Amino acid sequence: MNSDIERVLFSAEELYQRVSELGKLLTEEYYDREPLILCVMKGAMVFTSDLMRQLRRPCELETIAISSYREGVTSGSLVVDQPLSIHITGRDVIVVEDILDTGRTLDYVMNILQNAEPASLKLVTLLDKPSRRVVPLQADLVGFTIPDVFVVGYGLDYNQGYRNLPYIGVLKPSVYH
Ligand code: IMP
Ligand code: MG
Repeated sequence: MNSDIERVLFSAEELYQRVSELGKLLTEEYYDREPLILCVMKGAMVFTSDLMRQLRRPCELETIAISSYREGVTSGSLVVDQPLSIHITGRDVIVVEDILDTGRTLDYVMNILQNAEPASLKLVTLLDKPSRRVVPLQADLVGFTIPDVFVVGYGLDYNQGYRNLPYIGVLKPSVYH
């Protein structure tokens, strides 16, 4: 185990199991449709790559990049790093995110997407930290609900690091203090 990790929350095997279940649920739900998968970069890229291979339906893949720069607990501004030029009108869009925390990032993204009038819009998140929510936003599908701890691995980062850990672990507070 990486020495900056306090404990493993979800092993590679547990992640594989749960992501397979999510893929099965989506396969059933979209049995007669060909969804457009929208991966929120960069955190969701590992999850998306596993999830879409468990989706037994034809689909398309696009990515969007959004960053949130927080100045305090209650303030935060979002920057779209990449123009939303993807044509989603009339499409069945599945937004795939790594973690739902305050909800600000996804609330912003979902509003922009909804304005483009997709046929349907779903939000799938691997992790959910409901205790941290400041915007009333709920995902349609959640992999795991977790307490208020800072996690890395399986795409999730701290200062752009740890994304390649095959498991999800709690980062030692000494690393960011
Ligand atoms: P929100 O707008 O507060 O919901 O922020 C969601 C984003 O914050 C996620 O897409 C992550 O990039 C980041 N984030 C929130 N919690 C964690 C965590 O525990 N580990 C790594 N990134 C996190
Ligand atoms: Mg993210």
